[in-house]
Amino acid sequence: MSSPELAPETTAEILGRWKVTAIGETVDRNLRWWLRPRHGKSLCASQTFDLSYRPHAKETGFRCWQTVYVGGSESPAPAIVNQNVAIGYTNIAVDNRQSGPHAHSVAEVYVINKGNIEVLGGNGEVHRAGPLDCVFVPAGIPHGVKNAGVEDVEMIWLHDRIESNGAPKYYDDDSNMVQTDPIKVIKFNDLDPYWGSVRAKEPGWLRWLISWVGGSENFVNFNRDHAALSDQVGLGLIVLLPGNNQCPHSHPDAEVYVILCDKALIYRGHGNEELETLDSVYIPPETTHGL
Ligand SMILES: [Fe+2]
Ligand SMILES: [Fe+2]
Repeated sequence: MSSPELAPETTAEILGRWKVTAIGETVDRNLRWWLRPRHGKSLCASQTFDLSYRPHAKETGFRCWQTVYVGGSESPAPAIVNQNVAIGYTNIAVDNRQSGPHAHSVAEVYVINKGNIEVLGGNGEVHRAGPLDCVFVPAGIPHGVKNAGVEDVEMIWLHDRIESNGAPKYYDDDSNMVQTDPIKVIKFNDLDPYWGSVRAKEPGWLRWLISWVGGSENFVNFNRDHAALSDQVGLGLIVLLPGNNQCPHSHPDAEVYVILCDKALIYRGHGNEELETLDSVYIPPETTHGL
């Protein structure tokens, strides 16, 4: 049976047809990550989240909480501890902002699930990002995030290395920041979907991917014209159409999936496990898995 004619479409066309607004697979050497189609359904925080607050984060104007899926040895349970990357979720209440501009010793990447943000850079410039846009902040670059929309902001954050406690530098006020490298915003609508995965155009296996952060020439990067480059991690999105499957596979790198919305089943070598919205799964290297 021949596969149907499914010419690659622009992301905007697919979004219009499927009402898909979330999903992703990171594609890299250390990390993979995916999110599933959203059907106009709002994300809600999982009851299993272990909330953590930074200083001032419960105060009016700075209301913000976060959780950690994967992180270093000091991560709160039930986070997966590893030595390579940290991944978590941040919620910034409407009309609020992070309590202080700061700079990390590692690169930090945001993917917006819901809402709109403004990221203040060290030169006073403002970067704007909305749903499924990505913000790449190089290591050492000052930044501060503000909720610039009319609803709570939900975003996934990624650190490309493990940062020790006390390493982030906090600034007294926005005007004291100094910056050299630019913060990069990767707009979702600029990213063409990649339909070249194994069987990706066959009924039952329909899916497409993008890269927000990809590798250089010899490494996975589906959007070389727009994705941020990294030699540490890859980050992307897989749109798995309703009722369709990802081909079982394995790879030499660890992978982390975060479900942004809806439900999924994952196979990791010992039966199917059900995943709910905002659940996260860690897949060790060389482990056969599929969604
Ligand atoms: Fe940060
Ligand atoms: Fe995988």
